[in-house]
Amino acid sequence: MPPVRIAPSILAGDLGDLKGAVKDAVEARADQIHLDVIDGHFAPNITFGPGTVKALRRKCDLPFDVHLMIDEPLRYLDKFVEAGSDILTVHAEVLTGRAFDSIHSALRSRRKKVGLALKPSTSLPSWAKQKLDKLDAVIVMTVNPGFSGQALDRAVLPKLERIARLLCEKGVRVDLEVDGGVEIDNAGELGKKGANVVVAGAAVYGKSDPGGAIR
Ligand code: DX5
Ligand code: ZN
Repeated sequence: MPPVRIAPSILAGDLGDLKGAVKDAVEARADQIHLDVIDGHFAPNITFGPGTVKALRRKCDLPFDVHLMIDEPLRYLDKFVEAGSDILTVHAEVLTGRAFDSIHSALRSRRKKVGLALKPSTSLPSWAKQKLDKLDAVIVMTVNPGFSGQALDRAVLPKLERIARLLCEKGVRVDLEVDGGVEIDNAGELGKKGANVVVAGAAVYGKSDPGGAIR
């Protein structure tokens, strides 16, 4: 089994010092940085936009895994690409298969990676099952989008296993990322259930030594 990668979620860091949060992740050799963009419509919080992504981009070479929890991803996609995002993840709940295709072509033509995220109660849509070869990542959310620091919803784990099985059966190379309530003591179990990337907010930045928590 390949090692599970870690994507610290800076939403859980000091929002007045995101540069410091990124620095901690870089120094501890995190695999990628997870940036949660929330528009106050799709989920009940407002975080940051492309300007912040761009400012942080200058501080770090790690892949930026930008999780777009927004109602109109296509409208803002270019801005996040220009800001220096590497993996752009959009939510299945706001898409049709056709809208996904537009997003996919826009990102592929810019050589960016494409992710699809699912809220805890959302199943992988049938259109997405037909388009697995167009995906670089699936984010299975194990909390409702909005805030860091919530407990992982274990009822989502059978879905994680089903998606892991499907990806394996289809033989596609798609990262399977778990987002929400990941802790040091459940990360191993998530890996066994098929996740190969874990997002960690509070489990990293809620600790007195974020670098130690990442390591
Ligand atoms: C929630 C975000 C998550 C969150 C994770 O809407 O998508 O990435 O920051 O934070 P923890 O790990 O604290 O649940
Ligand atoms: Zn996220």
